[in-house]
Amino acid sequence: MTITEPASSVIPGLCLPPVPGAQAVRRHVRTRRPGEVNLKSCELLHPEVDALHAGLLRAIDPGDVVFYPLYQSTLDQVGAHLGVPSDRILISAGSDSAIALLITAFARGGRLVIHNPSYEGWQRYAALNGTAIDFVTPDADGEPAVCDLLRAVTAGPPAMVVLTQPHSPTGRVFDGDEIARLSAAVAKHGSLLVLDTCYLAFSESGEQTVREVALAPHVVRVNSFSKAFGVAGARLAAVVADPRLEGYLARWQPEGAVSGVSLALLRGALSSVTLFQGIWEELRGGRQQLADRIQADLPGWHARPSGGNFVAFDVPTAAEAGAAYSHLLEHGIRTRDLSGLPGLTAALRIGLAATPILDQVARTMARFADLRQTA
Ligand SMILES: Cc1ncc(COP(=O)(O)O)c(C=O)c1O
Repeated sequence: MTITEPASSVIPGLCLPPVPGAQAVRRHVRTRRPGEVNLKSCELLHPEVDALHAGLLRAIDPGDVVFYPLYQSTLDQVGAHLGVPSDRILISAGSDSAIALLITAFARGGRLVIHNPSYEGWQRYAALNGTAIDFVTPDADGEPAVCDLLRAVTAGPPAMVVLTQPHSPTGRVFDGDEIARLSAAVAKHGSLLVLDTCYLAFSESGEQTVREVALAPHVVRVNSFSKAFGVAGARLAAVVADPRLEGYLARWQPEGAVSGVSLALLRGALSSVTLFQGIWEELRGGRQQLADRIQADLPGWHARPSGGNFVAFDVPTAAEAGAAYSHLLEHGIRTRDLSGLPGLTAALRIGLAATPILDQVARTMARFADLRQTA
């Protein structure tokens, strides 16, 4: 996504030019086929989550709909959950809008340093804000590395640096000491470090790798609740930062796009954190079992170690990754073919879900293995 087109009007006669970068950004339309199991988007697919949210929705206070929302009780609960005082937290309508806010507030016309691949939202809002991107590609092993990010940021002027912990789409969990070194170098450089912790709840001790670093004045944590608490549709994330940065970011009023109903769902989910901790543990177990079963059935397939609610498999050829993707899709299971992304020559990513769903995936993949053998 490069910004090359000159500004021109969207419709004839309209004399207000659109943002130049907007012409290079594609509209994203989400689709869903009825009955399909979506293991591409990494939403939290679990019957106990459905039951919890159904109960929370039944108990919604009409005041959460009729009145403009108040935020303090939610901020207190989010603060207690993330281990920070509530004056370090802003609520946003998902991390997508937090990303838009951070780029607008800190990187408009500036520089963004980020691993490629990373979540595409960063690229979208960078393009819309005339932000130049310095992409950092994976190392020789095909894995994103913190040291490469560090090298890239110090090689240029002050920038916004993004580290996704654990990384998506590979699942790699970065070492806490490495993140601390990156943070120190970023501070010295006059840059801003953003930690995207969208999938952190699914990594066993990942929280320890960011908690202390995230308290530094030049670090912002963007913590989605979408995947960990099954609220992707409610659109909820926390932006955690130094109160001075929060005071600046608050001028954009990100919480203005968050409904009272969504806030009530978040409070209810956080009050049931032990239920979610049990589910995160179940998914971690499922992650290993799925990796083991697929590797056993398909020689040449290699599961990357993952701290997210997904597993990325390196596959012998891109054609085989594509065939497996199509086979799963024919059986109602949507995954993500990563083949061709930097460091991922031939790869398939499968999201995690409740144990019976993963069992269905493993059986479908065993059938794929049989077909491959007889072909
Ligand atoms: C790494 C990463 N960050 C952020 C997001 C956006 O999450 P949200 O649902 O909070 O907008 C995603 C969504 O897939 C993601 O993968």
